[in-house]
Amino acid sequence: QNEIYLQGLSGGVPPFTTDPDGLEASARERLGPGPFWYVAGAAGSGATAAANREAFDDWRIVPRMLTDATTRHLGTTVLGTAMPAPVLLAPVGVQSILHPDGELATARAAAELGVPMILSTAASHSLEDVAEAGGDSPRWFQLYWPNDPEVCLSILDRAKKAGYTALVVTLDTWTLAWRPHDLDRAYLPFLRAVGTAIPFTDPAFRAGLEKSPEDDLPMAILRWVHLFTGTDKSWDQVAFLRENWDGPILLKGIQHVDDARKAVDAGVEGIVVSNHGGRQVDGAVASLEVLPEIADAVGEQVDVLFDSGIRTGADIVKAVALGAKAVLVGRPFAYGLAHGGQVGVRHVLRSLLADFDLTLGLSGHRSPAELNRDALRARR
Ligand code: FNR
Repeated sequence: QNEIYLQGLSGGVPPFTTDPDGLEASARERLGPGPFWYVAGAAGSGATAAANREAFDDWRIVPRMLTDATTRHLGTTVLGTAMPAPVLLAPVGVQSILHPDGELATARAAAELGVPMILSTAASHSLEDVAEAGGDSPRWFQLYWPNDPEVCLSILDRAKKAGYTALVVTLDTWTLAWRPHDLDRAYLPFLRAVGTAIPFTDPAFRAGLEKSPEDDLPMAILRWVHLFTGTDKSWDQVAFLRENWDGPILLKGIQHVDDARKAVDAGVEGIVVSNHGGRQVDGAVASLEVLPEIADAVGEQVDVLFDSGIRTGADIVKAVALGAKAVLVGRPFAYGLAHGGQVGVRHVLRSLLADFDLTLGLSGHRSPAELNRDALRARR
């Protein structure tokens, strides 16, 4: 913030807007409709995506005075990963749709700030290249759980070797939802970019394509769909991942207390309370709405992370006060990437962390650990 004041005195303004709505609007101007709606779009009518945002308005922060919050420590450790603030970059697939450097730019920006990045299985650069771009910075890997155990093991093995520590297993996307904005364009930008995605370049995946020519994209896409759609997975099978991953495992997409308890019983270390940013079940409950009951039920046994709708520092304060150990941010950094690659992601992240820092301090708190429900009041 001080940097912005000083810049302003000499006539400079930030490279682009720090306002979340403005960011989306200018990404819209910059990107074609296909890439823009790939990010901005949601399932069905968009009701859940809207509910995700509205749910933050149901809680209001109650600021406290004279608490000596001039010096603050935002840092925290989640499942063995130290981070400068309780914030991670959510897994977002095929980022080359938004900028040619895609995940490489995101990894570099995340590394500059020490914010952990969660790399998607549907990334458009290889997991090894992204690891190299991120250097020593913390990195987690998100798994779309393939039906073929050989492909699954191959991907897990590569991720382990490339230094990804935690595994985030996304459960809510065993098939893509009805997403009108993408369907209207036959998923064209997505399909064009997906040919370079991680499973496509995986040796075990390629081995399964032996009978079709290397460059036969339609065949490869069919195999991809087969590999990731309509799974027959059950809670018992989490044991397979447990056996084949050394670090912590988190299950992403939990929205029901009973599922959170099943995750605990399955022996994972964390969950992500998420509805995929409203991109899967149209009409589903807002993610923030279910956070308190889930945190109450299992927060002592596993680390509860949260996503879907985080846009501002106040949103982070509210989610942490309601029981989240940390939050994941999706669309905002994707818009930053669309704006300026590494510089854009960095700008969005720095702005969000600064906003969180100031909101935390001005509401009377010195660290995220001091936040609890006393910091909030339900809106009447
Ligand atoms: C996603 N998300 C996602 N999740 C995941 O587990 N693997 C993935 O490959 C993707 N891909 C993806 C692409 C795009 C364009 C978006 C917007 C989202 C979901 C993501 O991790 C996260 O749950 C939501 O983005 C959180 O909601 P907000 O922050 O976008 O409101």
